[in-house]
Amino acid sequence: MRKAATCFRVFSILISIHLTFFCSVQAADFKREVIYQIMTDRFFDGSTANNNPSQSSGLYDSTKTNWRLYWGGDLAGIQQKMSYLAGLGVTAVWISPPVDNLNTNIPDGQGNPTASYHGYQGRDFKKVEEHFGDTSNTWTDFDNLVTAAHQNGIKVIVDFAPNHSTQDNAGEYGALYDNGSFVGNYTNDANGYFHHNGNISDWNDRYQLQYYALFDLADLNQESATIDGYLKNAVQQFQQHGVDGFRIDAIKHANWGWEYSFANSIYTYGDSFLFGEWYQGNSSDPLYHDSYKFANKSGISMLDFPLNTAIRDVFGSNTNFSEIDGVISQEAGNFTWKEDLVTFIDNHDMTRFLTLNNNNNRLHEALAFTLTSRGIPCIYYGTEQYLHNDTNGGGDPYNRPMMPGFSTTTTAYKLIGQLSTLRHNNPAIPYGSMGQRWISSDVYIFERKFFGSVALIAVNKNETSSYSISGLNTSLPVGSYSDYLNGLLGGSSISVNTGSGGNNPVTTFTLPAHTVAVWQFTEGAAAPEVGSIGPTSGQAGVQVTIAGRNFGSSAGSVKFGTTTATINSWTSTKIVCTTPSVTNGGYNVTVTNSSSQVSNGIQYTVLTAKLIPVTFTVNNATSTQTGDYIFLTGSTVELGNWSTTWDGAVGPMLPPNYPNWFLTASVPAGQTIQFKFIKIAANGSVTWEAGNNHQYTVPTSGTGYVNVNWQY
Ligand code: NOJ
Ligand code: NOJ
Repeated sequence: MRKAATCFRVFSILISIHLTFFCSVQAADFKREVIYQIMTDRFFDGSTANNNPSQSSGLYDSTKTNWRLYWGGDLAGIQQKMSYLAGLGVTAVWISPPVDNLNTNIPDGQGNPTASYHGYQGRDFKKVEEHFGDTSNTWTDFDNLVTAAHQNGIKVIVDFAPNHSTQDNAGEYGALYDNGSFVGNYTNDANGYFHHNGNISDWNDRYQLQYYALFDLADLNQESATIDGYLKNAVQQFQQHGVDGFRIDAIKHANWGWEYSFANSIYTYGDSFLFGEWYQGNSSDPLYHDSYKFANKSGISMLDFPLNTAIRDVFGSNTNFSEIDGVISQEAGNFTWKEDLVTFIDNHDMTRFLTLNNNNNRLHEALAFTLTSRGIPCIYYGTEQYLHNDTNGGGDPYNRPMMPGFSTTTTAYKLIGQLSTLRHNNPAIPYGSMGQRWISSDVYIFERKFFGSVALIAVNKNETSSYSISGLNTSLPVGSYSDYLNGLLGGSSISVNTGSGGNNPVTTFTLPAHTVAVWQFTEGAAAPEVGSIGPTSGQAGVQVTIAGRNFGSSAGSVKFGTTTATINSWTSTKIVCTTPSVTNGGYNVTVTNSSSQVSNGIQYTVLTAKLIPVTFTVNNATSTQTGDYIFLTGSTVELGNWSTTWDGAVGPMLPPNYPNWFLTASVPAGQTIQFKFIKIAANGSVTWEAGNNHQYTVPTSGTGYVNVNWQY
């Protein structure tokens, strides 16, 4: 009853036929999903009526020879291939940005026409691109796609790009429209909707990354209340159309502090899963620390670029498995909700795996690793058909060929399906810890474990040599285990013998060349076990999904600390409750089943109120040396509760006009906050500004500004 009432309230503005499917999908826990990334233009042409629409004619190449024009793929095409996708075992599709894009041709350096077929040059975030939907830019085809996907048990993730509109120096000069009405453009920007700072040149400079343009793309100013409202409304419109999650483009380049409020506004409106693109190589990136601080606090998970680098190195370039093992352990120490990181082998911005190493065995090994290891796997379209085009090294745009066909019998197609089923059925895969059990340069045997459920995965990437595996221990219970993949990648069975302390010895066996084997066990009835919470922060009233197992079919209770939350729905694996009205701060959330058994706890942050982006400036904060930064700290959890640590306080702030520092922080609407600025020196020592606390009452809507002097 309560759930139906909430759904009705949230979606009451929608026409009734939509209600049936909007509330049937719980989006907040994606750990059991397998995501499939589609570049809509290059998947399947389902309707020829939209191939060369009049408002943007001439951007279509029926010969598919100009790789930078539209080739005809559309939303109807994805819809028509829904049973292919369901058979593949993917349970979520991430589609390239579907919003109305640039209408004009912009010639490239050689004078050849180019178009925004990839979707990353949005002009109207409230309409659907005419090449993807219909030529009137309506939502019909989009809605049909969402309905078909949900009917097939597939969630829909929209790629949303809040950083920019279209190119700022050609074409439409950034012109932005709100459902057809002109909002503004880059060249005539009296209202300050865009940043006018030129292109990013220093890719390690926090200020440039956020306030300069990414490759000439008109850089939106999210501090403007108009732009803030526009983006939050636009994403809400996608939620109204049934979208389950968002891949947020270029999160490293939009205003970091603003993004917390963007996420909060999505979660306040409805259930969703958010992950962003924070491009980086590995943990030696100078902004790696900023990346995990952001993932731990913003409510936005991330694409796991450091693991992507390691996967490509190990399986593509044959480096040692220690590289993957090192990234897994390092990230485990850095990311609070590491199981929400989205893992991948390749994507539309890098060469396809088979371009890097044209070896299907290695592709299968990398796929099997990604599908069974920590994080939510994402497969780039065509991987299951061994798609690649190596022209000019195979990078963008040659990594975006048309789907070559839709065979359902390839080894990769079967592999993805089987491991998707395992991810759904054995909680060790989505929720479990990940530990190394046996490693050499060619062999990696790792174990996933969630309470009594276990999966042991062995990979030998050597093309010709088998290895004798002796001295392997596992948490699998004593017994004989056949390969879950039934020998698809060369695996066979093992016997597990009696040991102690979770170390049961495995009888010595041979792991043949280029083999992946999976042995697994799912425990029976036990006390409640929590594996997931989503979102990871929210104010009183925000709905929270808790997932795991053994919750029981009849409702028990959920506690935030000692406070009992209102339950909206309860099944044995998924509970939806409402964030209670408790003091802001971090809480341990537990599930108690109807027989009073209590689960493990999972971390959640109760916010003070919905978040409003406020830009704080402190003038004349001098005497900082290289490596010293000014941070903001204050009286609520959003301001770090007076923390003085790099991870606890808000910052580092940005000094483009040194000695004045600024940053945007998302703070609780309508609250009177107390705060101060601190210097955290390179060696960690902290200097407080003097005087009384600063005080500010946060607006209840829009955006805000604070400008004060450092108190000496
Ligand atoms: C990252 C996207 O993945 C890439 O394809 C795009 O060009 C840029 N962001 C700009 O939106
Ligand atoms: C301790 C600091 O020393 C002080 O300056 C600050 O005002 C308080 N924390 C916050 O109440």
